Amino acid sequence: MEYRGYDSAGVAIVSEDTINCVRAKGKVALLKEKCLTETLTGAVGIGHTRWATHGEPSEKNAHPHKDCTGDIFVAHNGIIENFQKLKDQLVKKGHRFVSETDTEVVAHLIEEYAKKEKDFAKTVRLALKDFHGAFGIVVLSKKNPGTLVAARFGSPLILGIGKEENVVASDATAILPITNSVIYLNDGDMVTLSGGSYEISNFKNGGEKLHRTTTTIEWTNGAAELGGFPHFMLKEIMEQPQALRDTMRGRLVPSEGTVKFGGLEAFENRIRSLDHITLVGMGTARFTCLVGEYALEELAGIPAKVELGSEFAYRSSAVNEKSALIAVSQSGETADTLNAIREAKRRGALTLGIVNVIGSSIAREVDAGIYNHVGPEVAVASTKASTSQALLQIMFALYLGRMRGRSKSDGQVLIKEMQKLPAHVERILKSADKIKALAKKYKKCENFFSLGRKYNVASAFEGALKLKECSYIHVEGINATELKHGPISLIDKNLPTIVVAPKDSVYEKNKSSIQEIKARKGPVIAITTEGNKELEKVADAVLYIPKTLEMLTPILAFIPMQLLAYYLAVERGTDVDKPRNLAKSVTVE
Ligand code: AGP
Repeated sequence: MEYRGYDSAGVAIVSEDTINCVRAKGKVALLKEKCLTETLTGAVGIGHTRWATHGEPSEKNAHPHKDCTGDIFVAHNGIIENFQKLKDQLVKKGHRFVSETDTEVVAHLIEEYAKKEKDFAKTVRLALKDFHGAFGIVVLSKKNPGTLVAARFGSPLILGIGKEENVVASDATAILPITNSVIYLNDGDMVTLSGGSYEISNFKNGGEKLHRTTTTIEWTNGAAELGGFPHFMLKEIMEQPQALRDTMRGRLVPSEGTVKFGGLEAFENRIRSLDHITLVGMGTARFTCLVGEYALEELAGIPAKVELGSEFAYRSSAVNEKSALIAVSQSGETADTLNAIREAKRRGALTLGIVNVIGSSIAREVDAGIYNHVGPEVAVASTKASTSQALLQIMFALYLGRMRGRSKSDGQVLIKEMQKLPAHVERILKSADKIKALAKKYKKCENFFSLGRKYNVASAFEGALKLKECSYIHVEGINATELKHGPISLIDKNLPTIVVAPKDSVYEKNKSSIQEIKARKGPVIAITTEGNKELEKVADAVLYIPKTLEMLTPILAFIPMQLLAYYLAVERGTDVDKPRNLAKSVTVE
C-alpha cells in the first residue's frame, strides 16, 4: 500500500498466544528495520500505512491500535465520524485510550461487546453497527488466533483468494503479488477468514450469509513494478503512448465517424436526450473535466459545466432526470467524487463514470461507465490516467455529438487526429533531456505562474498542480486573460511563467500575454506547436508539441508539464512518487 502516500506504518501478527505489534513513524523501510529486531512469526496478521487525519503522524498514532487488554488489534482506513461520542462513553466505562486517533475507539468498543458476547465475529458485528462514517477495517483477536475479521462501509476492501493464503486489502495492487482472483466487497459486507476459508456476511442485517462472485484482475503484478525506471512517475509518463492506444482500443469507429462504449449501450436513449451535463472530479481529474466541458459544448452542443465533487451536493443547481453527472476518477475511491454521485442519484440524474480502477467504488456506484484501461497508476501524481481521462471525455463528446447531429465527416477528421496522438506523445517524450536541462536552470525558483486559455486552461491548471505536488514549488495556474486583472503585479525577473500557447484560435491572445510578461522582465517558458518559430524570439525557452486539432492540444501539452514537474522534483530531491502529505486515494472528505 506504500504508493498511496502515508506518514507512518505498522503491523500486528498473531503468534500462538500473543499478538506482536510493531509500528514506526515515517517510511515502511523503518518499520522493516524495527521488525528485524522483533520476533514476528505467525500465519495471521494485519498491516497498515497511515495518512494522518486525527492526530499527528507519530508512532503512538500509527495503526494497528489495541484495546485495554491487548486482546484486540485493529487497522482502519477511513474516518469514524462519531468517534468522540463513543470514546466519551467508553472512557466513562473505564477504557484507557493512548492515541489521538478515531480508530482506537474500534478496538475498545469490540472489547466492550466482548464482555458479553464470546463469539469474535459477532462482537465485531455489534461494534460495526455503532459506527458512523467510512471504514475499511481489519481486526485480530488473541483469543481467536487463527481468525481475521474484516469489514467495509464507504471505504474500499477487496478479498483476494490465493492458493495457500487469503488476503484482504483496500487496493488491488496490494493483492496482486499473491493472487489475481478477487472479490470486491460491498458496503455492509463483513468477511471472516480462518483456516484457509472465508465467509462473507452482512453486518447490518443480523449477519446474514452472502454469496459474492469472484473476479479475475487483468492487471499483471509487473504493471505495478518499476521495471528499470528510477520512479513510477517517470515510468507512467513514458507509458502514455501505450496508455492512449489502450484508451482508444476497440472504441473508435472510423467508418461511422463515431465512438462506441460497451458500458453505455443500455443507456443510449437516455444519453441522447440529455439536456445538461455536469462533470465532477477532484484535483487533476477535475482539470481534465475542463477539456471535457469545452468538447461537449463544441461537439455535442450541450450545456456542460465542471464542478468539484465536494461542492456538488452544496449547490442548488437544477439537476434532474434530463441531466447526467460524469464522475472522473483514476482510483474510483475519491470520497468527494463519490458524494457527488450519491447526490446526483438523489436528484434523479443519470450517473456515468470515467474510472481507471476496475471494481472500485465509483465504478460500481454509477449507472454506467467507461474504464480508462491504462493499468495501475502507482505514483501519487497522476499522469497517464490524466491524459486518458481528457481523451475519453473528448471521445464521449464525439459519441454524443454524433447522436445529436454532428456530421460523420467531422467525426472522421477528429478520429484521424486522435489516432495520431500516441505517436505525437512519443515525439514529445524525446524532448525529455531538453526539459531536464530547463529543470536544472529553474530549480531554485520558488514561484511560477502557469498560463493558458480555452482548452489549455486545463493544461495551465494541471501543470501548476503537477509542479506544486511533485517539486514543492509554488505555482499558480491562471487563465491567461486574468493576468492583467491582478497577478501581473507580481511579474519580475525572478518569477518565471509557463505559457501554453499552441497555434490555435487563442494563439494571438496568448502571444500578447507573453509580450506583457517580457515587457516586465519576467522569464517565459512557452509551449507551442512544432514549426512555430516566432516565440523563440521572445520567450526564454520554447517547448514544442506536434500539430493537432485545437481540442486535442491539452493531451499533448500535459506531457512537457509532467516532465518539467518530474525533473524539478528530482533536482530538488523531493520524494517524487510519494510527495509529502499526499495520498494516492483520498478516501476521506
Ligand atoms: C493528481 O496528481 C493528484 N495527486 C490528485 O489531485 C488526484 O488527481 C485527485 O486526488 C483525484 O484522484 P482520483 O482521480 O483518484 O479521483
